[in-house]
Amino acid sequence: MNRLLISLFVLCCTTSSYAGDTDSRVTDILKLDSDEAYGEYLASECSTCHNTSSADNGIPIIHGQDQQALIAALLAYQDKTRENETMQSVAGALGNEEIGALARYFSSQK
Ligand code: HEC
Repeated sequence: MNRLLISLFVLCCTTSSYAGDTDSRVTDILKLDSDEAYGEYLASECSTCHNTSSADNGIPIIHGQDQQALIAALLAYQDKTRENETMQSVAGALGNEEIGALARYFSSQK
């Protein structure tokens, strides 16, 4: 019983937490075959703040930004090397797949 629990723990916790540095994580996420439609679906959570006409209220326009830059920004909020409580909590809830899909979607927007 204990052994089973331990192997389950090792399995789930070593595959979901990431030990590498941010740069290699950006590369890993770029290599994923990210799904733009999934990104569009997830983006509804972002669009309450980020839209294409929000330049003046302190919320940057992320539509059309570079894919790699978007990934790097989200990872920086996630590991808290970039300050902003809102974005730290938004990014904290995202896994690699979500970040990849969101970056693919937003970078494809005008
Ligand atoms: C409650 C409002 C809010 C929501 C929801 C939100 N953001 Fe943000 N986002 C902000 C603000 C404010 C900033 C600027 C923070 C700063 O000064 O670093 C920001 C910054 C960013 C940046 C950095 C952009 C740049 O040009 O530097 C990215 C990328 C980003 N958000 C992506 C997202 C994504 C993807 C989502 C949805 C999963 C999302 N945000 C949801 C408010 C929000």
